[in-house]
Amino acid sequence: MSKLKISFTALLTLILVSFFAAMASAEEPFVPTPSNPAPGINVGTVDNNGNVATHRTHGNFQNNTNSCGNCHSTHNGDSATLLKFEETEADLCLTCHDGTLGFYNVEKNSGAGVFNSTHDSASMHNVGTVAIGSAPGALTANEEELQCSSCHNPHGSTNDRLLKTTVNGKTYSTVAIDLELVEDPAFADFNASTGPTGLKIYQSKGPKFVNENREDVPQRVYSDFCATCHDDYLKSSGDQRADGHYTHTTDSYKAGRNCASCHYAHGTDITLLKDTAGKTVADYVRTGWTQEKAEAYMKDVSAGGSAIKKYTNMTVCWACHQTTHKIDTPPVAGGNYSGKPTR
Ligand code: HEC
Ligand code: HEC
Ligand code: HEC
Ligand code: HEC
Ligand code: HEC
Ligand code: HEC
Repeated sequence: MSKLKISFTALLTLILVSFFAAMASAEEPFVPTPSNPAPGINVGTVDNNGNVATHRTHGNFQNNTNSCGNCHSTHNGDSATLLKFEETEADLCLTCHDGTLGFYNVEKNSGAGVFNSTHDSASMHNVGTVAIGSAPGALTANEEELQCSSCHNPHGSTNDRLLKTTVNGKTYSTVAIDLELVEDPAFADFNASTGPTGLKIYQSKGPKFVNENREDVPQRVYSDFCATCHDDYLKSSGDQRADGHYTHTTDSYKAGRNCASCHYAHGTDITLLKDTAGKTVADYVRTGWTQEKAEAYMKDVSAGGSAIKKYTNMTVCWACHQTTHKIDTPPVAGGNYSGKPTR
């Protein structure tokens, strides 16, 4: 009896081993090539000038481009604009930007925030499900669905990160949005291999701060961009909104009083939120706190939710008002007052 059992187990093990071996060989790791640098992308390798350069998917289209085919189908489109997608246009973007590429994964934290609802204190621009006119502060009705392409131009833009120059029917500025983009060290080898005019992977540090004395610096332009949909939120100190309310200054380049000082563009969650000291859950775990304790500390408890904020609760207010227009609140034992104003 026991002999039979052993041979049965051995047989089962054999079957399982060969099964997993077959699975492994079916799922071979993706090997990037110049014309197929990431899964799902097929681009050219020589540019207009005859130089070796891996083509970009968005914009900078070369005279021998294949890039259109990554998003459009000539005869078999799923929309009147001949796009390939499953349900909504955002699905098209997410076929590549959900981590498939290895870079620009919008479901992972970046300078733009995150699209992900799996963590606590999550809030985001709910693309594919809401109307543009439902934006808080909207003064114009627009029943069109909020999509990735409401904010981005997949065909290229004079603004960084393909940000559109005309959003919600409004051309908000003649000055380009400049972000502080640095080559991503995680893709150093890749960036070195794609040619001087070719595909490069960058990390964003947020809007570039150019010059205190110019009204049109990109920081202000960034607020103008957000206000194409959130019209009534763009105000100076003391100005009444159309609905009679007042808002904190949002239309100034000074001391970072623009939307990006306090908000991400995509979304936020407990892994991104910071406290007044600029620390995240990961920072506290590194100092010895348990994950549970750090998350309980960082949790956004405000009634309105985390509202795509960079800082948890109302800590962003406290970060600035210790130095700028100081509020008369004495330090409390156990409080951490090392916060710095953000730009
Ligand atoms: C990364 C995906 C992507 C690539 C690559 C791409 N497109 Fe598009 N295209 C779109 C999307 C998304 C729309 C719908 C835009 C909208 O609704 O604002 C669109 C719309 C269009 C339209 C309709 C008119 C318009 O501008 O809205 C044309 C024409 C077009 N694309 C041509 C091209 C050509 C030609 C190429 C290659 C040179 C190309 N596209 C490459 C995503 C792409
Ligand atoms: C076929 C794969 C693919 C699809 C589909 C795709 N992208 Fe991309 N995306 C890329 C690649 C590759 C890059 C890197 C830069 C480049 O090639 O242009 C990129 C870069 C970007 C960037 C950063 C651009 C920069 O230069 O900093 C943005 C923003 C972006 N994509 C938005 C979108 C949006 C919005 C859509 C849907 C309309 C979309 N992508 C669909 C492959 C894709
Ligand atoms: C409300 C406007 C808005 C919407 C909607 C939006 N984006 Fe963005 N996105 C931005 C802005 C602004 C940035 C640049 C943020 C920064 O770096 O400061 C950005 C950055 C990006 C980047 C670069 C991220 C990085 O690694 O730095 C990618 C890729 C991207 N967006 C793709 C998408 C995709 C895909 C969608 C739809 C699922 C989408 N975006 C929807 C405004 C938007
Ligand atoms: C194309 C239109 C559009 C643009 C541009 C836009 N938004 Fe929004 N925003 C919306 C819509 C629509 C909603 C409400 C729907 C929803 O729940 O996603 C919203 C909601 C929000 C919310 C509330 C989220 C919550 O959970 O309470 C914040 C905060 C916000 N946007 C900030 C920004 C910032 C910052 C920018 C600039 C980077 C920006 N928006 C640009 C359309 C836009
Ligand atoms: C000084 C920081 C700060 C700036 C600058 C800022 N916000 Fe906010 N925003 C917040 C906070 C904090 C909340 C949460 C609101 C609350 O609980 O009082 C919020 C909430 C929101 C909401 C959710 C609806 C609401 O009214 O609570 C929207 C939409 C929004 N902000 C859009 C914007 C836009 C667009 C800009 C730029 C024009 C901007 N914000 C600039 C801090 C800021
Ligand atoms: C980036 C720095 C910064 C942040 C963050 C910030 N403030 Fe301010 N705040 C200022 C400055 C500077 C002024 C002076 C008024 C002005 O010139 O806009 C001000 C003014 C005020 C005023 C006086 C009203 C006025 O318009 O003069 C109040 C109240 C206030 N802030 C509350 C808050 C609250 C609440 C928050 C959190 C949502 C906050 N502040 C976040 C910098 C900041």
